[in-house]
Amino acid sequence: MNDLRVKLITYGCQMNEYDTHLVASELASIGAAFVDTVEEANFVLVNTCAVRGKPVEKVKSLLGQLRKEKERRKEPFLIGMMGCLASLEEGQAIARKFGVDVLLGAGAIHKIAEALAQTGAFWDVGFYREIDEVVPPPPRGTLSAFVTLIRGCDHRCTYCVVPRTRGPEVSRHPDLILREVEQLLEAGIVEVTLLGQNVNSYGKDDPAYPDFADLIRRVAALGVRRLRFVTSHPMNFSDRIVEAIAETPAVGQYVHLPVQAGSDRVLRRMAREYRRDYYLERVARLREALPDLVLSTDIIVGFPGETEEDFQQTLDLYDEVGFDAAYMFIYSARPGTPSYERFEDLPREVKVERLQRLIEKQKEWSLRRNQAWVGREVEVLVRGPAKEAHWVEGHDQSNHPVLLPASEAPVAGLYRATVEQATPHLLFGKVAERLLAAPEPLEAAS
Ligand code: 5AD
Ligand code: SF4
Repeated sequence: MNDLRVKLITYGCQMNEYDTHLVASELASIGAAFVDTVEEANFVLVNTCAVRGKPVEKVKSLLGQLRKEKERRKEPFLIGMMGCLASLEEGQAIARKFGVDVLLGAGAIHKIAEALAQTGAFWDVGFYREIDEVVPPPPRGTLSAFVTLIRGCDHRCTYCVVPRTRGPEVSRHPDLILREVEQLLEAGIVEVTLLGQNVNSYGKDDPAYPDFADLIRRVAALGVRRLRFVTSHPMNFSDRIVEAIAETPAVGQYVHLPVQAGSDRVLRRMAREYRRDYYLERVARLREALPDLVLSTDIIVGFPGETEEDFQQTLDLYDEVGFDAAYMFIYSARPGTPSYERFEDLPREVKVERLQRLIEKQKEWSLRRNQAWVGREVEVLVRGPAKEAHWVEGHDQSNHPVLLPASEAPVAGLYRATVEQATPHLLFGKVAERLLAAPEPLEAAS
């Protein structure tokens, strides 16, 4: 199509945000223009998520609206669907129903230009190693960027669609990763987040590649001011990795380590490959090396067969670890996953009630852990205005969301601040010093 006007819509995780960025750069190279609304576009491309039922429902309702838009249009109007849902039978059935023209599975997203060069529909759900090129940096003035290290997952958690949507683990070539990071630094990026479904396994699929511990050191050595990574699997979080974090000041003392459940019986049924004691031992090792560790986790409540006693063990584990933050999910039975095939879902009321109890626990701990930061100094990367009037928002080196007075932090940038107050979800600070201003502020803070 000549005069391609593209509207990109992204659901789901940071890997998806990165993938949308990759596709956008391919589209730019064939002359596409990007627009802000569906009305202005003649190609709407939706990057989808399939990890739980809710994002799937969102995609369905969006595709319903897009189909109506297509019927209204006199000019050509293409609907595109990419990412995890597109990789699944379930998603392809949805795509057929809503008249999707271009469908690219999560392992075929680099085929976007080829897809648009065709007349008629183009569907590809293969897994190609070639999704591997240097993605150009985001617009100047952006301070944070993602870099994908590894795609796919070799674990087989019974509730999870990812091994089927993103395929087996494939690490990117270290030279590409390092080149991409160098370009980001040249573009003024202050914070780099290394991405993968399981970053800890980086390099396992190619003996010539460094492992994750060495890669952290090599990326940091390029001069990254702040380095973060998500997500980790406890089974692959080796002592070598703990040591690399401890030796690399740019990484800070923040780790996201999903535990999923506190009961051995549930962990076994989830096929998480570890037991509760093993997880606790990893946390102890981390705390030994990183005394200021800020730890967050993922927890699923209401996994099939989870008894009240099992759930109680999740609550107990929470107390034993004292997580700073948690992403908590109600188990969502996903067609095609082993747990969907094998086990019966618990009643919704049971799951909802357990989630509420877990949220109460999380709030208590987050408040307690956040309050321990009052009076301390933090380094805040300010993005822009907060929802709360007269405040700007950012996050510190341990990933706490922090608000600063807008009058003290008028532009995006990096600030040294003292924490004055804490809530379960926020730290409030006072600016001590501006360390760095964004080269070209994205938006003026109000
Ligand atoms: N139901 C609920 N939560 C899930 N997750 C993955 N699959 C499911 C599912 N079927 C959660 C896990 C994972 C996070 C990204 O999403 O906690 O760590
Ligand atoms: Fe899914 Fe488990 Fe792989 Fe994470 S480690 S992507 S939860 S299969």
